[in-house]
Amino acid sequence: MGKKGNNGRSIARGPNETMRIIVTLITGTVFGFFVGVSFIMLAMSKQFPSSFATQALIQDAWSSVMGLNTSITNQFQLNGTTKIWATTNPRGAERLPPGIVASESDLYLRKLVGKPSEDLTIRPKYLVTFTVGIKQKTNIDAAVKKFSENFTILLFHYDGRTTEWDEFEWSKRAIHVSAQKQTKWWYAKRFLHPDIVAQYDYIFIWDEDLGVENFNAEEYIRLVKKHGLEISQPALQQNGKIIWQMTRRRDDQEVHKETEEKAGYCTEPHVPPCAAFLEIMAPVYSRNAWRCVWYMIQNDLVHGWGLDFSMRRCVEPAHEKMGVVDAQWVVHQSVPSLGDQGEAQNGTTAWRAVRLRCRQEWTTFHNRLKSAEKRYYNNLGMDLPVSKSRYYG
Ligand SMILES: *[C@@H]1O[C@H](CO)[C@@H](O)[C@H](O)[C@H]1NC(C)=O
Ligand SMILES: *[C@@H]1O[C@H](CO)[C@@H](O)[C@H](O)[C@H]1NC(C)=O
Ligand SMILES: *[C@@H]1O[C@H](CO)[C@@H](O)[C@H](O)[C@H]1NC(C)=O
Ligand SMILES: *[C@@H]1O[C@H](CO)[C@@H](O)[C@H](O)[C@H]1NC(C)=O
Repeated sequence: MGKKGNNGRSIARGPNETMRIIVTLITGTVFGFFVGVSFIMLAMSKQFPSSFATQALIQDAWSSVMGLNTSITNQFQLNGTTKIWATTNPRGAERLPPGIVASESDLYLRKLVGKPSEDLTIRPKYLVTFTVGIKQKTNIDAAVKKFSENFTILLFHYDGRTTEWDEFEWSKRAIHVSAQKQTKWWYAKRFLHPDIVAQYDYIFIWDEDLGVENFNAEEYIRLVKKHGLEISQPALQQNGKIIWQMTRRRDDQEVHKETEEKAGYCTEPHVPPCAAFLEIMAPVYSRNAWRCVWYMIQNDLVHGWGLDFSMRRCVEPAHEKMGVVDAQWVVHQSVPSLGDQGEAQNGTTAWRAVRLRCRQEWTTFHNRLKSAEKRYYNNLGMDLPVSKSRYYG
């Protein structure tokens, strides 16, 4: 994944050195084996006739020679076999002793030499990703500079151009993922698995066309924590027309969690698009909220349309845990970007073809969600509860 760093080649050794290492290993192993076995046999022949006890003794003796602690694994051997089967391990890893299972990882860049414990001088607690094309280089440079060393920077490149970014100092500590003409949600599903980003308290999954002049990331996090927001976004100052009132910036408060919409949009105050609702251009998720949203992202629906109305399913109560940060706001510049990377089809422009797919995906997502929810309630012998929102999601 990381473009930088180790390119995967193993470290070359001369044939003589390799041979020497192999000979040393073999000699050592054979010697050690005989010493161990003769010691164990001697001890056993004196005291333990039963074969089960023998096996346990061999294990214990072997472990104490090797400095291992068997009591961790022994508790999982109660079903009559001596093979490990630890159901507390993640699915597929049951044969491993639980003490060695590393079920989560991180995106921290490590060194090739020295002690692993000295690899990291800082463990960033936040992650920010931008899905970028080289045309937005200047804007992204300005945006990244708003995020301190407490953030891991991850760029998803949709235009295949990655080397040009190296002119920026920060690019060397960033992680670059390149896959041509893919969308933000495609990358997020593939590269931001909750077990991989588990180290981060907050995850920013941002578009490339945001103006960040009035944005301070550390201050944003402080406000999000203060107001208990699990899913949030900075308020928007739109260059074009505002689509949803919820994300519009207000200058009289730090954070808002609800809004008024045009007549008829909201049947009650706590449902989208009047509350429990954010757009998908600059979302920020807490670790727990992201663990849920990641599972909701569909593998084939790459534009993420419809997610805005559904994210509320991941936090409870959504109208209190989702909100817009007014004090730290961004400008939505609406520059053409990935939308231009489509292909003209059936006589429509590239941009329109992308937009068409977005709308179709929205419908598909909506239908999938609805029938899944219906099936769930039907299995319980219930009808689908009546949605209080005009906008299903
Ligand atoms: C061995 O593991 C058990 C269970 O985790 C622990 O309670 C015990 O202290 C360990 N013993 C040693 C010598 O490390
Ligand atoms: C006993 O262990 C085996 C693996 O060695 C596993 O397949 C089986 O499910 C286990 N049985 C129980 C009851 O845990
Ligand atoms: C980074 O995080 C640490 C610990 O929370 C904090 O003390 C420091 O001020 C942060 N850095 C910046 C630039 O805000
Ligand atoms: C193009 O038009 C044809 C005929 O109307 C239709 O069958 C096809 O699905 C369209 N292709 C796309 C990508 O919309």
